[in-house]
Amino acid sequence: MNQDSSSRIQAARARLGSDLTILAHHYQADEVVRHADFVGDSLELSRRVADLSSRQIVFCGVFFMAETAAMLCREGQEVRLPVATASCVMADAAPTALVARVLAALTRTGRKVIPLAYVNSQAGVKALCGEYGGSVCTSANARAMLKWAFAQGDGVLFLPDRNLAVNTAEALGLPESRRLVLDVRGQGAHIDPEACATADLLIWPGTCPIHQRFQYKAANIAEARRDYPGGLIVVHPECPPVVIRAADAAGSTSFIIRYVAEAPAGSVIHIGTEASLVRRLAAQYAGEKTVLPLAVSLCSNMQKTTEADLADTLDHPEDHPPTRVAPEVAAPAREALTRMLQVLA
Ligand code: 13P
Ligand code: SF4
Repeated sequence: MNQDSSSRIQAARARLGSDLTILAHHYQADEVVRHADFVGDSLELSRRVADLSSRQIVFCGVFFMAETAAMLCREGQEVRLPVATASCVMADAAPTALVARVLAALTRTGRKVIPLAYVNSQAGVKALCGEYGGSVCTSANARAMLKWAFAQGDGVLFLPDRNLAVNTAEALGLPESRRLVLDVRGQGAHIDPEACATADLLIWPGTCPIHQRFQYKAANIAEARRDYPGGLIVVHPECPPVVIRAADAAGSTSFIIRYVAEAPAGSVIHIGTEASLVRRLAAQYAGEKTVLPLAVSLCSNMQKTTEADLADTLDHPEDHPPTRVAPEVAAPAREALTRMLQVLA
């Protein structure tokens, strides 16, 4: 803990009072999380933004979270991301221009393909979802939203997370023969709408490297089962299907937190997700439950934000311009986000 940064944050809080809300995602470092008014998974954070009345919202997370917050907050509110370069490798795997090209190709024959974007995506991709009658989902509501999307058209394009798409399809019992992972190389030149028409679920081939890594650690699951008979394994649905099948449960970051809280005293729980959350849970339950990482996997973008960055954002907002989304993008993207919040209401 940096005493200077910490006292600067406290002084800013005293100065700004109810004009300030600090939000943080569960993957943020402890030194940041301890200053947050609210820590949550992506769905909870999106919902929370819609209810906030403070003028200043500082979002400790990555860019798509701040963008989403900027599109859901009210007029007059400002959202700041302390580190402008905190991006998301998975969101970057589906650039808006390429998604637009692929969607145009898929719908060329008149087929109604509904795009469903994981919230880990660019605002432009969410806007395309709004324009094509689609929506957005998070790891906490992917099943409900995929069911919803199937009811809206002739097929669904799920993007950018291939693992979440396959894991959700498997949970809904959609057979592999009804799914197709798209080849988006060559700027979408390989997309054949006729071949795609045989699949109900078209899947963008993006992944999160932090969770994909658990695939190569499959031996750790076997070891955990061997060394801790009766132990539990819980993972995030961004993990590959082989990892999900071998685990006892899978869910969003908040689901994982609840899973550990509800496990009986004395449990040994292996967790397959970003390491800072696993570390926090291990410390929180030390002496009561044993919490171990399935493998240590850190998201460098989530870890970019430090306590000093938060203090700087509060003290020098002029150096941290508010996150803005162009109105012509924000309007359809908001429509897609609102559909998600309404489906779940
Ligand atoms: P949650 O929505 O489960 O918090 O996961 C979001 C995520 O992947 C952040 O990278
Ligand atoms: Fe993106 Fe993965 Fe990092 Fe989440 S953990 S912000 S999905 S790269």
